[in-house]
Amino acid sequence: MTAPVLEICLSESDAADALHHDARVGLSADPKWLAPKWFYDARGSELFEQITTLPEYYPTRTERELLRRSVGKIAARAAVDTLVELGSGSSEKTRLLLDALTANGSLRRFVPLDVSESALRSAMAAVVQEYPQLTVHGVVGDFTQHLELVPASRGGRRLVAFLGGTIGNLLPDERASFFTALRTALDPGELLLLGAGLVTDPAVMVPAYDDAAGVTAEFNRNVLRVLNRELDADFEVDAFDHVAVWDAAHEWIEMRLRARRAMTVRLPAVGMTVHYAEGEEMRTEVSGKFWREGLRAELADAGFADQAWWTDPQERFALLLATAV
Ligand code: AVJ
Repeated sequence: MTAPVLEICLSESDAADALHHDARVGLSADPKWLAPKWFYDARGSELFEQITTLPEYYPTRTERELLRRSVGKIAARAAVDTLVELGSGSSEKTRLLLDALTANGSLRRFVPLDVSESALRSAMAAVVQEYPQLTVHGVVGDFTQHLELVPASRGGRRLVAFLGGTIGNLLPDERASFFTALRTALDPGELLLLGAGLVTDPAVMVPAYDDAAGVTAEFNRNVLRVLNRELDADFEVDAFDHVAVWDAAHEWIEMRLRARRAMTVRLPAVGMTVHYAEGEEMRTEVSGKFWREGLRAELADAGFADQAWWTDPQERFALLLATAV
């Protein structure tokens, strides 16, 4: 067993700078907004894991089923020596891929990349235990910024897995830059496995982001706890209501926090005082949903050829395997 390598591209002070910057920009905008990556401190990551088990939250179990059905074919098609996982989190679904890729004998290395060092450390420890034959090289980084730091494979090919529908958290222009940066980081013939939510009935999509048990509401409000802790802010967390709406024009679910009454919030770490009107809504996440043709076109524009597509019978989620050309 080789000792796992953890490369830290995003130091704690980089992350703090990024949060300060995002808070300054987002909280002085009209309407106010915060980037969804700030949900994921230890508590937020745990709440997200709970979300994935909710009856209303179909993406995780749908994607897991699609992976189960397709990993054999993916492994047969792709003799890859490295699996890179972007936004790997707990790497739970990764095991399906690791099993299939180690069974076909080609896989040598696993490279998980995540902003959360704690999530990465525990995922790496588990993978090292379960797959002692693999070299595990974790990267603490932001997948929109640190793709060029994903180590190339000498002679072999990499498969980059970007699962969970996290692609939907990027705004359209960020998504185009991301696909282009990813294509630039890859050599021709290397592969992308993308999991994406599809546009479906709002009566299905909205409850997935507004569950009856209120777990998503807690997850959403958790971003205020992160600001309170990291920026010394004084948000009254329970004075904000969770809102989830389907934006049909943008084809995304938008999560917001709505101020129950007028409030003044101090954020001394960034030197700001922010006012909320009663009923004011602040955007905390977009979660884009896609059509097959749209995704295919975006990937083609970035230099990926569409290779294979798997979807569930209700067409709520898709897995797509594309090759860098
Ligand atoms: C992990 C980013 C894919 O957008 O569906 C779950 C996050 N937000 N419930 C998503 C999330 C609200 C999730 N992603």
